[in-house]
Formats: sequence, C-alpha cells, structure tokens
Amino acid sequence: MPPQLGVNIDHVATVRQARRAAYPDPAEAAGAALRGGADFITFHLREDRRHIIDSDLPRLAEAVSAAKLNMEIAAVAEMRDIALQLRPARICLVPERREEITTEGGLNAADNIPQLREFCAVLSQNGVEVSLFTDPDSRQIRAAREIGAQAVELHTGAFANAEKPDSELEKIRVAARLGAELGLKVNAGHGLRADNTAVVAAIAEIAELNIGHAIVARALFAGMEAATREMRQVMDSAR
Ligand code: PXP
Repeated sequence: MPPQLGVNIDHVATVRQARRAAYPDPAEAAGAALRGGADFITFHLREDRRHIIDSDLPRLAEAVSAAKLNMEIAAVAEMRDIALQLRPARICLVPERREEITTEGGLNAADNIPQLREFCAVLSQNGVEVSLFTDPDSRQIRAAREIGAQAVELHTGAFANAEKPDSELEKIRVAARLGAELGLKVNAGHGLRADNTAVVAAIAEIAELNIGHAIVARALFAGMEAATREMRQVMDSAR
C-alpha cells in the first residue's frame, strides 16, 4: 500500500493574502485536491495568520468535513482552543517562529516533555490523532512516544534541500524504522516534489506524506486536481 497523501493548501491562501482578497479559496482547492486523489487536507493556522485565516476553518470543514482535515498548530493555548472547536481528525504540532519563511526544523519535543504531554492529552481525549513534527532524530522520536503522541511526522526538509541527499534519506529510513518499532504511526513531509517524493514514499513504514508547495505551484499550470493526481501517481508507483 502506498502512503496516504495529505495535500497542504496553505499556499492557495498565500496567494489570496498577497492582496487580502476573497480568492483563490483554499476550501475550493481542498475539494479539487480530494477529487485528484488526496486522502485528506492539511493546513497550518499560523499565529500571524499569514495564509490560512480563522474564517477559512468552517469553510474547510464544510467543503471536506472535519474527518478529512489535518491541522498544523503550534502547541499554544490559543491554537488548542480553536482546534477543539473545529475537531479535525488529525493535529500535527509544529514549532513556529514569526520570522521564518516556512517551518524550518522539527519540534524540540525531547526538552519539553511535560508541557507537550499535557497538551497532547487534551487533544487525544477529544478524539484527535496527534502527531509531532520532528527531525529524523532518535531522541525526538523516543520523546514523541513518551509524550503520548500517536504519530510522528518526519521533517524531510534537510533531505529535500541537500545537494547529496543520500545520507539524509538514510536518516529518514532509520527514524521511520524506530518510530514503527515504538508503535508510532510514521508520516513525513516538507519540501517534497515530483522529483524527490518516490524514494520517501518507498519507505515501507511511512503511512502518510504531507505535500503542499510543490502541488500548489504545479496547480498554476495544471490545475489543482491534476497536480494532485500527478503526485498521487508518483507515490503509487513507488511501492
Ligand atoms: N508538513 C508540515 C508539518 C509542514 O509544516 C509543512 C509546511 O507547511 C508541510 C508538511 C508541507 O511542506 P511543503 O509545503 O514544503 O510541501
């Protein structure tokens, strides 16, 4: 079975927010991504609301249902409260810095176990599957287990940006094996494109990939549905 595909629609909202306009609509893009073969829709409500904004949330839930939403949030009370109202099926906890262009590294779960354990427990008690976005680093993956997360999402950015990606890919393989041994669901994402996704999708332990920028960029020329379908095909032929 190839991994499931979560299409991240943040950058549809980035184009909208460039003009503070009402279009393009990320909820409409989400529907097209599902028609193109996405298994669920991923989005990141950032503290600075640079792309997805609060009014997108009910529209997304209506367009695709909360059961198909994967919400990325920082582990802060404001986001927890918003998430508990929306009740997406999945939540991925990510680190967040206002000055970063994108989520640059994984969460430092290992040095924040008590706080994250409590945060995770509240979400899990509300029926949400919680994932931690971590670097492919054994210390962080073991911490995810201790915190009580159901899943880890391995940050593939270092792999995607490396000139010689083999050693970074090996780190992802080793981390995926460890996560699975610990009983965690193992997901991955960040910086994945049509030309580098197959080797990650081929890792047997990986259950889900979250891919955004490359699909939205391709959608400018091919449309969202076709861009999603192309990525789906890359993943399907990898395993
Ligand atoms: N997974 C997580 C946790 C992310 O924060 C992001 C970027 O928002 C992605 C996946 C998708 O990354 P990209 O847009 O580079 O495909």
